[in-house]
Amino acid sequence: MSLDKEATKKKLRLLIDKINYYNSQYHTYDSSKIDDFKYDKLYAELKEIESQFPELITDDSPTRRVGSKILTGFAKVKHSHPMLSLANAANFDEFSAFYDKTHLDLKQKKIQFYAEPKFDGLAISITYLDGKYYSAVTRGDGQTGEDVTANVKTIKSLPLKLTGKKIPKTLVLRAEVYMTLNDFNLLNEKLTKENKKTFANPRNVAAGSIRQLDPNIASQRNLQIFFHGVLEIDNSFTNSSQSSSLQTIKSFGLQICTHNKVINNLKEAKDYYDSINSIRNTLPYEIDGIVYKINNYDLQKIYGFTSKAPRWAIAYKFQSAEGLTLLKDVTFQVGRTGVITPVAELVPISIGGVLVSRATLHNMNEIIKKDIMINDKVFVKRAGDVIPEIDRVCFQQRKKTTKVIMPKLCPACGTSLVKISNQSIYKCPNELTCEPQIIQSIQHFASRKAMNIIGLGESIIESLVQNKIISNYSDLYSLKIKTLMSLDRMALQSSTNIINSINKSKNISFDKFIYSLGIREVGVTTAKMLANHFPNIKDFINSKKENLESIKDVGPIVAENIYKYFRSKQNIKNINKVRKSGLSIVYENLNRSGELDGSTFVITGTFEKYSRIEIEEKIISKGGKVTSSISKSTSKLLVGKNPGSKHEKALELNIDIILEKDLSKLL
Ligand code: IVH
Repeated sequence: MSLDKEATKKKLRLLIDKINYYNSQYHTYDSSKIDDFKYDKLYAELKEIESQFPELITDDSPTRRVGSKILTGFAKVKHSHPMLSLANAANFDEFSAFYDKTHLDLKQKKIQFYAEPKFDGLAISITYLDGKYYSAVTRGDGQTGEDVTANVKTIKSLPLKLTGKKIPKTLVLRAEVYMTLNDFNLLNEKLTKENKKTFANPRNVAAGSIRQLDPNIASQRNLQIFFHGVLEIDNSFTNSSQSSSLQTIKSFGLQICTHNKVINNLKEAKDYYDSINSIRNTLPYEIDGIVYKINNYDLQKIYGFTSKAPRWAIAYKFQSAEGLTLLKDVTFQVGRTGVITPVAELVPISIGGVLVSRATLHNMNEIIKKDIMINDKVFVKRAGDVIPEIDRVCFQQRKKTTKVIMPKLCPACGTSLVKISNQSIYKCPNELTCEPQIIQSIQHFASRKAMNIIGLGESIIESLVQNKIISNYSDLYSLKIKTLMSLDRMALQSSTNIINSINKSKNISFDKFIYSLGIREVGVTTAKMLANHFPNIKDFINSKKENLESIKDVGPIVAENIYKYFRSKQNIKNINKVRKSGLSIVYENLNRSGELDGSTFVITGTFEKYSRIEIEEKIISKGGKVTSSISKSTSKLLVGKNPGSKHEKALELNIDIILEKDLSKLL
């Protein structure tokens, strides 16, 4: 080799190591050590040299992640160690039986376990030879799998060359390829826009992408990988336990799950399960249980394997957040504003430990989109504290079904329903006497962010309306303790408390009163804006549409809703009645220049010193806005204890994060 070429080779080596280092910092350790511009420059330089000297290109060059070749098929590869499955425990009794049995069988008083989340991804066997990425093989039938080396190579957090000390000659690893929920949702959104079929879950995308013949597809999917097992090793790899092995491979640059933990007794095992289960919905990826492995390799060896699975490990599964059940019927519910919502009536089924017998179907469009029919078997999902939903129909089991038809008349009051513009939304226009509408409007009026009438719960309002004691919110102010006591289960003390809190609500700030009225699409923020704009209720009631539209955040639809609301004689009558019964509106007319004007906030987690409502109110009073989901336009995320997935999303979108300790400064 000429001297020149020798120098180029060296330069290339340096360049590759540098770029691989930045890649690994970014993709494996979430830490950016170089700005995009400089990175792109290095990458361009590498490509330039490689195009001039193609014979110097090495396999670990970052330009080689996506091979240009489209494969004709996947070669079959025999596993050096069979890829087994895991025994399952469906509940704590089964888990503790396993735990006890290991101690008994192995004649040990105390066995240490290593606990890891069980990723819901695609199992893969990965081999490094002399520290270089060599192959990736799917599980297949456990004995023989398919060679997916080229596709797995596109995963950016997978090191093409291991770093660190004492790297063994041969390293056979077990890993899981997965996709984050965020990437999954983005992908499905994109597919929907392109009118293409969407994926059912992230696992299917990971599996589908790895089994594509064109590695470009896997490369575009932003797949991730984590390692959970070390198999073939040589003398230089001296770890004697699962925990230390994983720490060692971590030092080689391989990604392991950050939640893994050494477990010393049954209580710790259960606590770990509970704690991971409680943050499960906030993790950026899907997991379906915890894997417990005997930590010590010698003990693992003694205990050995059954034909299917290791005896030294168990997967203690989380309760499924999905269930299959029969859709018996679809009923129709009337909401506060008269909107009719179809509701699925199900054969009760336990999902994630909660019995579900009804699920929202949102609107007719949703039913058509998912092709849901009465008498279908349906998959019902419950994610976190979200209302149960029908995810999809099990079409294989479809037999005799009937179509869901929107009724012509309101199921509560019999009034003819009207279709709202071209949306598939239907409404009962009888807002004055349709019972569910009345009940829910009063509930809204009494709710915490509105008049905050403590103690006046849903069931009391329901009884009051059903017994024709009240017919709108203004009637609350003429209620007597005696009348309340005449209701089921109402004693003197609770009735007195309610009357006291009704009286207390008589001094109310203008914005809260506006919000209480329940004008369509006038939420807390808009109500604040309106209260800031109008000097008093009279001016607000008499405002012209143009005037309303000139207010920040009030568009033509909201303006129309407000205008229409005050053209109803009954609405005006109600307002006058509450004012006569002593309601006094407090006009703060803030009108100060909002320090937080134009800023949008999202809140996640719990706070020690403030309640959520306090924080929201403060922000709004300073001209800021509070929304429930993170997007690019969010200005800041306020993070309390046990934050949800919003925290991860904010980090991804580079949104400013404010912790409780800095909150007082902001507020
Ligand atoms: S250990 C001998 N650890 O679950 C098998 N497996 O149901 C030892 N999985 O095929 C597997 N997360 O693909 C192990 N932390 C974890 C895991 C995990 C997911 C998968 C793995 C395995 C399947 C068994």
